[in-house]
Amino acid sequence: MDNFQRLQIVGLTNSCRTNSYNHMVLNHIKSKYEDRIDLQLFDISKIPFYEDRAEVSPFFVEISELAQLIGQSHGLVVASPEYNHSVPARLKNTIDWMSRMPNKPLLKLPVMLISASLGQLGGVRVQYELRRIFEATDSRVMIKPEVFIGKAHEKFSNAGVCTDNETIGMIDNQLQSFYEWMKNHSLNLNCLEENIAHQ
Ligand SMILES: Cc1cc2nc3c(=O)[nH]c(=O)nc-3n(C[C@H](O)[C@H](O)[C@H](O)COP(=O)(O)O)c2cc1C
Repeated sequence: MDNFQRLQIVGLTNSCRTNSYNHMVLNHIKSKYEDRIDLQLFDISKIPFYEDRAEVSPFFVEISELAQLIGQSHGLVVASPEYNHSVPARLKNTIDWMSRMPNKPLLKLPVMLISASLGQLGGVRVQYELRRIFEATDSRVMIKPEVFIGKAHEKFSNAGVCTDNETIGMIDNQLQSFYEWMKNHSLNLNCLEENIAHQ
């Protein structure tokens, strides 16, 4: 990652559960890569459920705040649990809201998906569902490398520290790829900086 400047990335956190493993994943990324990534965590539990009556300016402040934050960022990292083989309602609701915002914050946005779960599969199904949803928003989800953190309770300490070297290596590899992938897909940083400057 040495040739790149510091990126502004938004991480969506879904605080349905105290001591969430997915929150631990985001905290791990935030602290380990802070010299390269300014990862801003946004708590989506404050986002109200979508209804058309609310789809008028001024929007709820949390919704406007998130749309602006994502609109000014280089990319999005989604670390999500899997609920009943699918996407937790709060996360889906947040994406639905963002898809309706006038500044179209998700359009062509680079997205990195990662998931942690107690099950062995580590959230494979939630990631595949998310890919389909982000197709609808015309976002740019990085397809590989995929990272599914199964048996998350064995990979993180009670203090929230990732203790599993294989998992640490997989996350390193994924973040490195996220940089290179953004660059190779002509979503290069100069272009992104220009876009951000014009918003
Ligand atoms: C409503 C609900 C549904 C769940 N469904 C799944 C599932 O389909 N697959 C899975 O691997 N884990 C499932 N789990 C267990 C989660 O993997 C576990 O709660 C995990 O800790 C969630 O991530 P978090 O720690 O970031 O909240 C479910 C948990 C809840 C509360």
